[in-house]
Amino acid sequence: MTIGVLGGGQLGRMIALAGYTLGQRFVFLDPGAESSAGHVGNLRVGAYDDEERLSELARKSDVVTYEFENVPVGSARFLNELVRVYPPPRALEVSQDRLDEKQFFASMRIPTAGFAAVSSQAELEAAVAKLGLPAVLKTRRFGYDGKGQWILRTQDDVARAWEALGAASLVLEAFVPFERELSILAVRSTRGETRFWPLVENEHRDGILRLSMPKSDAWTPELQARAEAYAANVLAELDYVGVLAIELFLVGDELVANEMAPRVHNSGHWTIEGAETSQFENHVRAILGMPLGSTRTIGACAMINAIGRLPPQGDVLAVEGAHLHAYGKDGAPGRKVGHVTVRAETKRELAEKLEKLLPIVDPQGVAPASMRQAR
Ligand SMILES: Nc1ncnc2c1ncn2[C@@H]1O[C@H](COP(=O)(O)OP(=O)(O)O)[C@@H](O)[C@H]1O
Ligand SMILES: [Mg+2]
Repeated sequence: MTIGVLGGGQLGRMIALAGYTLGQRFVFLDPGAESSAGHVGNLRVGAYDDEERLSELARKSDVVTYEFENVPVGSARFLNELVRVYPPPRALEVSQDRLDEKQFFASMRIPTAGFAAVSSQAELEAAVAKLGLPAVLKTRRFGYDGKGQWILRTQDDVARAWEALGAASLVLEAFVPFERELSILAVRSTRGETRFWPLVENEHRDGILRLSMPKSDAWTPELQARAEAYAANVLAELDYVGVLAIELFLVGDELVANEMAPRVHNSGHWTIEGAETSQFENHVRAILGMPLGSTRTIGACAMINAIGRLPPQGDVLAVEGAHLHAYGKDGAPGRKVGHVTVRAETKRELAEKLEKLLPIVDPQGVAPASMRQAR
């Protein structure tokens, strides 16, 4: 089969790397000629709304998926008339707009932070009065890695944020005083088979994911079951096919949904070495209707993002159990250029390896003790 992929970034690259072992072929569409996936597959360069390019992609592909969630929904629908597109365009539509997404969660009875739509200064004042401070003002569309959002702590912040973001359609969210950030990754195949990976704990800094660690034994089975139930409802409601990620806040023993991604997700990169079947392989299996692989973890593991620059390769690889993934991208401030996964037999051994790797991969980071000690 040939799988067409909208987007040629590192996620597409890793989908292809997993799909090749299953004998599949890949063709990517991305506006950038230097895209990461172009090093490992056939890259067509063109705009996401170029109908000629989209038709070409449909002709070359048996099935189309995406690795970038800001592909125009119209393009996904256009393709869907010509070829099977997974996940369904509706999933893309819901996750592209933070207001629609929150309303969608609410309609499924999945808890979210309090929220209000903001399209004028008066609405912002009213939303602040309703939700209180602190609060987070976000653009409804196109935000990623903490871009397009502003934490409001004082009335002064409210005025300044309006000046900075006021032109866009916005949503104000109550600030969630979370203890931890978690994510649940789920996958559903064309045959309706569904699997979940264990809850992952995520640490962000400056709005960017730095560290992810599955901790299957740190949560009660009830918490895992609740996260799976939320994800299962979303999968069913959208008649979803492929990998889905939901970012969650843990507040006391409450799970509050933050956002979802209708694609493979950075907090699932550890699954390449740390799970029986990676999110990338299961995504390919799911969209091709193959049986899904086990999502069981293999030992203890953690993933550290390489942001801005790649760490010195020799230093990383000298740590037993460490695996370097370089995306073939140029370094730039705040850009994800690779990641390191480290695996160990025991949690204690994992903590020791993380102590060595964190200063090499994320030298500016001061990971809290909770993350360093793999508990
Ligand atoms: N309502 C909120 N309360 C507290 N922290 C938040 C809230 N919304 C976002 N954050 C913090 O900002 C990070 C990025 O926000 P998110 O909505 O996930 O946007 P992005 O699309 O950039 O990932 C979150 O992972 C979390 O650390
Ligand atoms: Mg996020």
